[in-house]
Amino acid sequence: MANTQEKEDSKPTASSKKKTVKEEKDALQDFLLGITGLSDSMKKRVHKVLNTEGIIDPRGIKSLTNKQLEELPGITEATASLLLDQFKTKQEGKIFLSLEEREELETVRSKIKTGAKALDDLLQGGIPTGTFVELYGAPQSGKTQLCYTITANCLLPKEYGGLESGIIWLDTEGSFNSQRLKQILSYYKYTHNIPDDKIDTGKFMVAATRTLSQIELALKEAGRIIAKNKVKLLIVDSLMDPFRAEYGGLGQLADRQKHLNRVLHLLMRIAEAWDLAVLYTNQVMANPDPFATAMDKVLPSGGFILGHASDIRIWLRRATSKIRNQYDAQNARRALITDCGWLPMTETHFSLGPFGVCDVDEEAKLRDLALEIGLGLDSEEDELEEEELETEFAKIE
Ligand SMILES: Nc1ncnc2c1ncn2[C@@H]1O[C@H](COP(=O)(O)OP(=O)(O)O)[C@@H](O)[C@H]1O
Ligand SMILES: [Mg+2]
Repeated sequence: MANTQEKEDSKPTASSKKKTVKEEKDALQDFLLGITGLSDSMKKRVHKVLNTEGIIDPRGIKSLTNKQLEELPGITEATASLLLDQFKTKQEGKIFLSLEEREELETVRSKIKTGAKALDDLLQGGIPTGTFVELYGAPQSGKTQLCYTITANCLLPKEYGGLESGIIWLDTEGSFNSQRLKQILSYYKYTHNIPDDKIDTGKFMVAATRTLSQIELALKEAGRIIAKNKVKLLIVDSLMDPFRAEYGGLGQLADRQKHLNRVLHLLMRIAEAWDLAVLYTNQVMANPDPFATAMDKVLPSGGFILGHASDIRIWLRRATSKIRNQYDAQNARRALITDCGWLPMTETHFSLGPFGVCDVDEEAKLRDLALEIGLGLDSEEDELEEEELETEFAKIE
């Protein structure tokens, strides 16, 4: 009898389902209800307009500028200001914070694991949410592989070191491969013994954004997904590619930088409103300065505008043969923090294994494990890849 009762209780009834849907909607409704100086009919209208724009949470409003709000149908200049003013009176909208308040804000930020302990240590625990992280390097330096493993770590349940959060991935190069992400996830499931239903891959969303207008459209759509999937990571792989494609000539550089600035500000508002990490990859170019030091021989593209936006810049390169041989890690890479306001300029090594990013001393072991659990590695393709890799790196070094 008790059992039946229990079953009855846990069964979602029509009314409880309705309740959850209502609860989800309430975040925006509650926010609007609390505003004085806005008529009930106006509140209803604003609610409807924001919902059709994909804003289902008040933080979505915070990610917009006055101008963007005013452009929405039926929202006047006064209403837009009133909506944005609400954040100024709340703790998160306070202009000045004491040292203690600021420290509290920084410590509540989650850290996303990278897959290699050495890299996590370099970043003092992982990638902090609320920051802009740039991975730059030559082709095949491991930028996209790092994005996969960081994505997998976001999806992992909390008890296994993950964030259980959602991820948005903007694929500008058409290089995203769902099988590769699944492979990395299956490794974590296998090694941590995680049941299938414990990882909600539905929280991962990818958009093919080959053009700048597609990026901007996707970012506009993002609010709805961020709220629904509790997104904590937004990836752009790679950020500069569409800018380079659409603003080719030197004469277009100023326009390109203006446009880049606009997209970065859009990303900043989203990151700030939702406290999510923005991770973007970037290519490198040869430094035109003939007096550049060995370290500055290559530069990330995007100029000062991108340089100022990135909170942490990490340069990825192939490791020296000494390191590769020492650890029997032919895929070993170097990661150097070249610019960060709170981390020293230090370097570490990590590797790219069959299961994504790992520590250098794990690569050989994981290669064996891949064979053992039946994840076949095509050695011929690997050799070819190695050759191509050498030429790509030779161009840079
Ligand atoms: N399945 C795999 N097993 C082992 N290593 C892989 C696998 N897939 C990719 N890699 C490694 O990742 C490298 C490509 O890295 P990637 O992150 O795609 O480069 P990029 O910096 O251009 O984004 C390959 O050269 C290879 O060393
Ligand atoms: Mg790539």
